[in-house]
Amino acid sequence: MSQILSIVNYKDGTGKTTSAVNLAVSFALLEKRTLLVDCDPVGDAGKLLRVDTERQLTLFDLMVKKNTGNDCNVKTNFDMLDFIASDLNLLSIKKQLSLKPFKERILRASVIDLKKDYDYIILDIPSLFGFITYSVYVASDWLFLPVDLRSQYPDEVLFNQVKIISDIKKKFNLSLKIGGVFFTRCDSKQIKTFSAKNELNAMPFNLFLTQIPESNPDFLNSPVALKDLKSKEAVAYLKLASELILFFNK
Ligand SMILES: Nc1ncnc2c1ncn2[C@@H]1O[C@H](COP(=O)(O)OP(=O)(O)OP(=O)(O)O)[C@@H](O)[C@H]1O
Ligand SMILES: [Mg+2]
Repeated sequence: MSQILSIVNYKDGTGKTTSAVNLAVSFALLEKRTLLVDCDPVGDAGKLLRVDTERQLTLFDLMVKKNTGNDCNVKTNFDMLDFIASDLNLLSIKKQLSLKPFKERILRASVIDLKKDYDYIILDIPSLFGFITYSVYVASDWLFLPVDLRSQYPDEVLFNQVKIISDIKKKFNLSLKIGGVFFTRCDSKQIKTFSAKNELNAMPFNLFLTQIPESNPDFLNSPVALKDLKSKEAVAYLKLASELILFFNK
């Protein structure tokens, strides 16, 4: 069954876009029909994917002007990966939809129509809380939480994130689920210390085994699989994608 998923963390710069793009590429390389939707007005996902989004119809057109997924679809360097770009018009989307009822559900309605064409739809979420962020939560079936163990209080960030998800679920009456946590920019020793914490053991999460390694920033300015399929980064994202596929097939 097709799944809509997002990689969420309310803190900025925690690797959401990098993970979303490289996971989307990895799903495609594993022959899953995949769509990446950039829901962040700044358009980092498109830049990272290295697709030309000039003169393209965007998520704004899909949500406001009722263009179809086909109209907005951008082909990528990967056969099984399609992309829907964002642009700064997204900043005004709440105003544009002001007369519509259930505004936060419009993104979900738009992407649900595309589910039949894909195995996985990944939404790249902005950090800043607001209408678009809520819309992404409402649109998602599953959330995955990256934990960056170099940050000062990673457990506090994780617990806050879980609380935010629980509040949003209540507010919008969602059946949204947390798929699990994966670790970025850390080593096994840090993970062991972190995972041994009692509060964490009590949490009903999958802790995915794949670790996304700390990488040279220059290596991360395009999909890592395009740079070098055998690199430790590309191998890690492919492993994480395989873990997620197994998780969904359970
Ligand atoms: N594994 C990694 N190793 C080193 N740097 C990384 C890694 N993952 C991400 N980064 C870098 O961290 C920065 C933030 O990453 P990214 O843009 O993916 O975060 P984000 O959560 O999407 O940020 P925002 O909240 O602004 O949308 C980028 O410069 C990215 O290259
Ligand atoms: Mg981002």
